[in-house]
Amino acid sequence: MEDFKTKLSKFSSDFNDKLPSIFNFPNGEERRVADAMFYSVSNGGKRLRPFLVTNSAKLFGISESQSFITAAALECLHSYSLIHDDLPAMDNDDLRRGKPTCHKQFDEATAILAGDGLLTYAFELISSEKNKFSAEIKCRLVHLLASAAGAFDGMVAGQMLDLYSEKGVKIDNPEEIIQHIEEMKTGRLLRFAVEAGAVLGQAPQDKYDSLITYSRKIGIAFQIADDILDVEGSVEQMGKTLGKDAAQGKLTFVSLYGLEKAKQIAKELIDESKRALEIFGSEANDLRELADFIIHRRN
Ligand code: IPE
Ligand code: IPE
Ligand code: MG
Ligand code: MG
Ligand code: MG
Repeated sequence: MEDFKTKLSKFSSDFNDKLPSIFNFPNGEERRVADAMFYSVSNGGKRLRPFLVTNSAKLFGISESQSFITAAALECLHSYSLIHDDLPAMDNDDLRRGKPTCHKQFDEATAILAGDGLLTYAFELISSEKNKFSAEIKCRLVHLLASAAGAFDGMVAGQMLDLYSEKGVKIDNPEEIIQHIEEMKTGRLLRFAVEAGAVLGQAPQDKYDSLITYSRKIGIAFQIADDILDVEGSVEQMGKTLGKDAAQGKLTFVSLYGLEKAKQIAKELIDESKRALEIFGSEANDLRELADFIIHRRN
């Protein structure tokens, strides 16, 4: 695990070094929104989604520099989801990635715009000349990312259900609903991360399918781990306010099944995710280690 943490921190430090190269800072007063975007996307994040894009693409001979734009686009979109998730009308959080949330550092309207800016910029990046893949591949990525982030079966839908399930609402089938929430609000972007690598590398169907299975399992396990850390984690390590799920009466695997059962479910999902990678042999070791990290992380 220590080796993997070193690998991930080297990856995120390289990724952070390259990030400013894709940002523009206009001269006029509108620069404020670009500053808020960069503030939220830079520093502090674990960069798990870029790591997944990169290491999934590597399985098919695509280098880190070739997959960088896709990885960065996804991190922009993920950062937008965090800015909006923290807004007073949503989870109302003051701390994110160890710093004041975007609306605290700037103001609420700027934070909304910074989120909008990062969301749209993700698609600008993927479809841009900087992304040196065929129009067909880029179009496929745009479609997959829009669907993963979207309101019908994607992250936005998951966030809607998450808010709906907050205290006061009686839910008849919580086991089904919680599975659906985790799959959509968190799972879909993690799935895109892995799938994007397969799309960039034009993976054969059997390998593509194995990666999808892997990504679905880690997607749910990732959010279960986040919900466990909301109870057991430390604010210093997580860089965000904890105990929020219980305070806001959220429906989570932890609120439904308790900590021990939630841990067991997450562990089973991680075991299954690693089994899905058999077809790759030792080449997928980075993805296996990342799966283990998801349930052992403290941040
Ligand atoms: C936090 O994601 C939001 C969830 C989907 C649970 P991460 O834990 O990956 O956050 P960063 O990017 O490292 O800050
Ligand atoms: C957020 O889930 C998932 C997103 C789509 C951003 P949480 O609300 O549990 O994430 P944290 O705990 O604030 O990072
Ligand atoms: Mg939330
Ligand atoms: Mg939140
Ligand atoms: Mg959480």
